[in-house]
Amino acid sequence: MPTITPNSQIDQLGGEILLEARGISKGFPGVWKHLILDHIDFDVRAGEVHTLLGENGAGKTVIANILSGYYGKTAGEIRVKGQPVDLRSPRDGLRHGIAMVHQELMLVPAFTIAQNVMIGLQTSSFSFPLRKVEKRIGELAARYQLKVDPRARVEDLSAGEQQRAEILKVLFHEPEVLLLDEPTSLLTPHEADHLFVVLRAMAQEGKGIVFITHKMKEVFAVSDRVTVLKLGKTQGTQPIANTNERELTRKTFGETVPEYMERPPVRTEDKAIDVKNLVPQSMENKGPALGLSFELRKGEILGFAGVAGNGQTELIECITGLRRAERGEIIMLGRNMANRSPRAFIELGVAHIPERRREMGVVEPMFVAENVVLKDYRKAPFSNRSVLNRKEITRHSKELVARFNALVPDLWETESRILSGGNIQRLILGRETWQRPPIIIASHPTEGLDAKAIRHTWELFLALRENGSAILLVSEDLDEIMSLSDRIGVLFEGAIVGLVDAKSADREQLGRWMAGGASEAGAP
Ligand SMILES: Nc1ncnc2c1ncn2[C@@H]1O[C@H](COP(=O)(O)OP(=O)(O)OP(=O)(O)O)[C@@H](O)[C@H]1O
Ligand SMILES: [Mg+2]
Repeated sequence: MPTITPNSQIDQLGGEILLEARGISKGFPGVWKHLILDHIDFDVRAGEVHTLLGENGAGKTVIANILSGYYGKTAGEIRVKGQPVDLRSPRDGLRHGIAMVHQELMLVPAFTIAQNVMIGLQTSSFSFPLRKVEKRIGELAARYQLKVDPRARVEDLSAGEQQRAEILKVLFHEPEVLLLDEPTSLLTPHEADHLFVVLRAMAQEGKGIVFITHKMKEVFAVSDRVTVLKLGKTQGTQPIANTNERELTRKTFGETVPEYMERPPVRTEDKAIDVKNLVPQSMENKGPALGLSFELRKGEILGFAGVAGNGQTELIECITGLRRAERGEIIMLGRNMANRSPRAFIELGVAHIPERRREMGVVEPMFVAENVVLKDYRKAPFSNRSVLNRKEITRHSKELVARFNALVPDLWETESRILSGGNIQRLILGRETWQRPPIIIASHPTEGLDAKAIRHTWELFLALRENGSAILLVSEDLDEIMSLSDRIGVLFEGAIVGLVDAKSADREQLGRWMAGGASEAGAP
């Protein structure tokens, strides 16, 4: 991580207050009985990065949406440079120099980056031709070192590039205040470090940056000040120099999060998954000619690290029935599953915790209870001769929501769309693991979860492992891979370039493999 000096003068000199929330409250009457935001005071000054920290559902996204004009407020005042303003739309926000980069990317995949910017402009292409937009984005990309090609189609970009495109899209409006909602969740550690350098540079130019994150390391890497939100109430604002990780953890969760625990060795040689020479469709000429081969024992956690775009998605889709296998074998629990339907995988007991959870993990307009039984509703006890047993579904959903601490107002009235990112992930984890499936394929299972929910998930995975589940974990988060796995592999350009015992794994070696460095010992 680069050493970044916070702008320590901020506090003594006091940069101009660019944007201010005074006593902001927000309710969603009819959905929640309590206020989602309860008299929030918050401000961001010129020259600073002000971090918003808080557990899942604390209200971070909602306050950012209000400050940038996406949501209305129930009470309170917003001031821009001391003047009260009425933000009725994101356009109003932009007019006052406030722009937001959202937690979920909001780009049209089939359009180029420049075309995506054009849609946002809503001016005629005569007054602002595409060429001019492309040129301007190119300039911004150079100025802030956000490397992307303005003419590239969004669907051809990696997650990191899409994130950069999203940032450039809002920078196009030259905002004075930039709010970023968990912008690092899609980035590799290296890309995240780079983003921090960029954010510091923007602050240096006199912009005010509001940065939302769950990761304590990031708080200390980039912030000048930090504000903690807890269930809609602010726990106070402090200069980063006056606080520490312990204090912030306590303020966020009300108690300290317990440390990682040991686990016994894998007990059996029985294979749950045996993949031989697998070549996923569309990887014919990208990966190794012999394809991918690996085994996973019952009661074992195998972690695959690797920068996104190195074949993880293709592999996972193949072993869950979502993509054809061009060649090779997928033996699961003794059966050849290559090219079977997704339903066949579900019926065999293969649980899947997908990436891009809002698109793939839930059906957003459906009610929470419907999403909870999405995969099980055809079976008893949830239905009987295709008649749904609503009472049983309710009981089951209630139990999962409680067990996973999800913030859900009503099971049959709440569309899953309105839940916070972390709470959606909790529901998916509950749905995919409650039956203690023999095989779990988990892609970034803790992305977007707060520290306490991450603990909870790790403990859950270890308990499932103890119970005999075989877990394939795919994640860019090396901490997670290293804490949970029994063995660790690294995917690079469609190949497994290293496979080591987790106890002897070292972070630097894994990092080198992830970057494409040749493997010495430990190669399969
Ligand atoms: N349109 C809406 N209608 C009803 N409730 C909503 C709506 N949008 C958000 N909420 C609720 O407001 C609460 C705060 O949500 P918010 O998205 O701000 O959380 P967050 O702090 O960003 O959490 P996460 O870390 O999980 O992203 C949640 O309980 C959420 O369900
Ligand atoms: Mg959020």
